[in-house]
Amino acid sequence: MLREFLYKSKAKAELIKVFRSAGLHKTYKSKGGSERTIFPQIHDIHIDKENKSLRYTFTLLNGMDPKEVAKKEYVFRQHFGRSITIEGDLKKYVLTIYASSMPNELIYNADEVREEVESFKLGIICGKDRNGRYVSFDMLKQPHLLIAGETGSGKSTQLRSILTTLIRTKKPSEMKLFLGDCKKSEFHIFRKVEHVQCVLSSAKDIARMLRSIKKELDERSDLTEIFEVGHADDLPAEHRRPYLVVCIDEFVMLRKNEEIMEILTEITAIGRTLGVYAILSMQRPNAKVLDTTIRANLTVSMGFKLRDVIESRIVNTPGAENIESEGRFIMNSKKLYELQAPYLTDKKARELLNPFIVSKGPVKEVTPEEPAIKELTEKDVFNDVVD
Ligand SMILES: Nc1ncnc2c1ncn2[C@@H]1O[C@H](COP(=O)(O)OP(=O)(O)O)[C@@H](O)[C@H]1O
Ligand SMILES: [Mg+2]
Repeated sequence: MLREFLYKSKAKAELIKVFRSAGLHKTYKSKGGSERTIFPQIHDIHIDKENKSLRYTFTLLNGMDPKEVAKKEYVFRQHFGRSITIEGDLKKYVLTIYASSMPNELIYNADEVREEVESFKLGIICGKDRNGRYVSFDMLKQPHLLIAGETGSGKSTQLRSILTTLIRTKKPSEMKLFLGDCKKSEFHIFRKVEHVQCVLSSAKDIARMLRSIKKELDERSDLTEIFEVGHADDLPAEHRRPYLVVCIDEFVMLRKNEEIMEILTEITAIGRTLGVYAILSMQRPNAKVLDTTIRANLTVSMGFKLRDVIESRIVNTPGAENIESEGRFIMNSKKLYELQAPYLTDKKARELLNPFIVSKGPVKEVTPEEPAIKELTEKDVFNDVVD
């Protein structure tokens, strides 16, 4: 107890030193003419043994500008090192100092990841926190995901790890993937995977694919109404359909196509109960593209390195503008996390996907209006014979 008391007193003195060098204080002259300095009030100092961290709670003095805390965050870092977080607004703040720093790289471990997400209906692997614990979520509970970050921050790598994990943990009869790759650079490794319905890159093809998804949404919506169920999972077995996941890398490139944006918005608005989900990535989040409807419906967001506070605010991932390394991100899903994404290289992903490769004809690249797998009609057969 005494040791803890002494430790806390020292910790308190330490924080006051920081307040002083950050200029977070006020000076009053007493009647006698002597000066008195007052600092923000430290209410609590908590030692969290499990998470190996020290947590201060403090409030600013009335009249102090909360922006000063954000502006002076670097002073806190200079004193306490890089492994800190400061959360709060207006008046009350929580400063946490971690004993361990975040790992800079986390190699994708297929067995560990499988174990982590196995119990979920659509398990999304996110990364590890600073205590080395995996963080993941079930897309059925927290539908639709936004991944934002500058070029080279790790978005496509994160998509690769999420998609590979889904493929390894779901049967093709349980889940189908519709992939859009506007940069034509990322998703070819998935082309021949059994779960993958299409890998498309032009706006025209993506629009066509989305039109078919829209049709599917309408059908599922009718079915849930006919059978009076709240979720497509509760339909009678013979009407149950696989989960559909639409994943588009760099979807901002499609922003000018109104139809695409409209259907994507619809998926995020009503897909939740119909088993249709969206995963979208973008480099430069701006409020116009991510209008408020779509933003509110993407219940989880991952902010890899972002350019500034404005972008971090749009993505709802405060602090993402301070990220310095690849694969590091802030995740907002009910609460905030700082995580390191598992690093899955293209080569390793290919190996993991190998068992799921099937031979596919070019028809797989065509979608909707021409059904993905054409049934041969008598006429087709006849023509073949004539030829
Ligand atoms: N989770 C990660 N851990 C370590 N390095 C990573 C990670 N993700 C990405 N990188 C590095 O950053 C580079 C760019 O990643 P990428 O996913 O292509 O970024 P983006 O799609 O955001 O442009 C990768 O080639 C890799 O070297
Ligand atoms: Mg990319």
